[in-house]
Amino acid sequence: MISKNKKPSNWVKKAIENIEPGGSLIDIACGEGRHSKYLSRKFYVYAVDINKTYLEKLSKIPNIETINQDLESNEEWKFSKREFNIVLVTNYLYRKKILNLFKLVKLNGYLIYETFAIGNEKFGKPTNPSYLLKSNELLKIKPKNFETIEFFEGIRIQNFKKSKVQRLLAKRVF
Ligand SMILES: C[S@@+](CC[C@H](N)C(=O)[O-])C[C@H]1O[C@@H](n2cnc3c(N)ncnc32)[C@H](O)[C@@H]1O
Repeated sequence: MISKNKKPSNWVKKAIENIEPGGSLIDIACGEGRHSKYLSRKFYVYAVDINKTYLEKLSKIPNIETINQDLESNEEWKFSKREFNIVLVTNYLYRKKILNLFKLVKLNGYLIYETFAIGNEKFGKPTNPSYLLKSNELLKIKPKNFETIEFFEGIRIQNFKKSKVQRLLAKRVF
């Protein structure tokens, strides 16, 4: 049985259902790969993380290619010149480079972002504002060439646990 915190996000699963399978997906700060594993059935997945132990396990799974990268260093990302059908980010935030994530999306591709938002302090970690999106932040920073398909800011209840999250599903239209 898959432990609760290793299950893919219900919202991510729902967002993906409406996207045609095939093509490439990059899972930014993939962790142990709860999404990479689930989505490798439908997409060719590039799983990126700083943690080599996580990546080693994921590299054994068909349709997953791992990329070991410190996303927060001054070094250019190894994949920064590439584009992907889907860019997925969950439970990760590094503001300084957040706009670079949109640049990785192919024309007609999607950004799927779900992470903690301000107000989450009431429910648990993270509590550091550096890791919490400000009110409407994803909407405010979204470049003009992206169309919002779905945006949500509010309480998420998953596995009987409450958290405050923000979600954006956006399509690159030009
Ligand atoms: C809370 S986990 C989220 C994992 C996954 N996205 C998920 O939702 O299950 C945050 C992940 O960010 C990764 N991470 C933290 N700092 C990083 C950095 N500077 N570069 C790359 N990955 C980093 C950690 O190794 C960890 O796997």
